[in-house]
Amino acid sequence: MRILITGGAGFIGSHLAEAYLENGNEVYIIDNLSTGSLDNLAHLKERSAYQKRLFVHVDSILNRDVMLELVGTCDIVHHLAAAVGVEFILDHPMESITTNIQGTEVVLELCNKFKKRVLIASTSEVYGKHTHAPLVETDNIIYGPSSKFRWSYAASKLMDEFMALAYYRTTGLKVCIVRLFNTVGPRQTGAYGMVIPRLVGQALRNEPLTVYGDGNQTRTFTYVKDVVGAFVRLVENEDAFGQVLNIGGIEEISILALARRIIAACDSSSEIQFIPYDKAFGKDFEDMQRRVPGIDKIQNLIGFTPETSLDVILSKVTNYLRKRTDTV
Ligand SMILES: NC(=O)c1ccc[n+]([C@@H]2O[C@H](COP(=O)([O-])OP(=O)(O)OC[C@H]3O[C@@H](n4cnc5c(N)ncnc54)[C@H](O)[C@@H]3O)[C@@H](O)[C@H]2O)c1
Repeated sequence: MRILITGGAGFIGSHLAEAYLENGNEVYIIDNLSTGSLDNLAHLKERSAYQKRLFVHVDSILNRDVMLELVGTCDIVHHLAAAVGVEFILDHPMESITTNIQGTEVVLELCNKFKKRVLIASTSEVYGKHTHAPLVETDNIIYGPSSKFRWSYAASKLMDEFMALAYYRTTGLKVCIVRLFNTVGPRQTGAYGMVIPRLVGQALRNEPLTVYGDGNQTRTFTYVKDVVGAFVRLVENEDAFGQVLNIGGIEEISILALARRIIAACDSSSEIQFIPYDKAFGKDFEDMQRRVPGIDKIQNLIGFTPETSLDVILSKVTNYLRKRTDTV
C-alpha cells in the first residue's frame, strides 16, 4: 500500500514511516522541516530495502498542488504535520494557527475528494484546564481566555476535530481522530519544550534540571512505538471512523518526580532548579495541572494497551541522547 504521512520528518512521523516500511509498504512524506529534520529519516534512507519505497517531499501541506498529487497517489493518509509544542506556539502564533487550521482543511478536502482513509493527530491539550482524571472523550472542554496564547494550539486542534467530524457526517469520509497524550521516545527534540528530552539532556550534561512552577503538575507518557502501532491498526478498522480516541499512558507522575527519576536514571550530579511559569513563558501563560487519559474506548476498539513502562522509555531516550553530542 501507499501511505502518505504529513509531518513525516518529525518525531512521531518518522517512527510511523519506519513501521510501514518494515511491513513492505511505500511511504510518501511531506514535511517543511519547521520542527522536523531529514536526520530523523537518515537511518531509513540508508537501508537499501527501503530506498525505493521512501519518497520525501520537502514542502508545506499548505501547497495544495503538491498535496493534490500526493493524496491522489496514496491509499491512506496520516496527518501529523502541525505546529507543535508550547514554546513553538508562543514564538510563532500566526504561523501555528495557519498551519493547524488551513493545513488540515487542505488534507481533509483532498482526502474527501479522492475518498482516502485518513487519521488526524489531535492532542490532549484539547481538554484544556481540567484537574480530574481520567479525561474521557466525552468530557467538556475548559479553556483560558484568548489573551493566553497557549490555548490557540488546543483551539486550532479542536477546530480540526470539528472539521473532520463534519466531513464524516456529511460525506462519509473515513476519518479517525486521535487525541495524543505526551508521546515520547528517541528522536523527540527538547528544543521546543518537550519535557523528557529537555530534562534528560540537562541531566546528561550535569546541568540543573529546570522544572517549571512547583513541579506538582502531572502527566503520563506513552512510548512512540506503542502509539504508531495503534495508528496502523486504527486506519484498518472500519469502526474507528467518525471516532475521537484518546491514546496515552497509565502511569501518572509529577514533573518533579520525573526530574528526580531522570537524575537517577542518568546517574547525574544535576540538581533541580524551579523556574516560575512567567519567567519561562511570559506572564500570560497558564499550565494544565493534570493530564491523565481514559483509554477504555481505544482498548475496547483495538485492544490498545501502552506496553512500554516509563523506566524503559527513559532508558531508551537516555541511550539515544547519550549517542548524540548535541543533546537538547
Ligand atoms: N509528541 C506528542 O507528545 C504529541 C502530543 C499531542 C499531539 N501530538 C501531535 O502529533 C503530531 C506529530 O507531533 P510530533 O511530536 O511528531 O512533533 P514534530 O514537531 O516532530 O512533528 C510535526 C512535523 O510537522 C512538520 N510541519 C509543521 N508544519 C508543516 C507544514 N506546514 N507543512 C509540512 N510539514 C509541517 C514539522 O516540520 C514536523 O516534522 C502533531 O500533529 C502534534 O500536534 C503530538
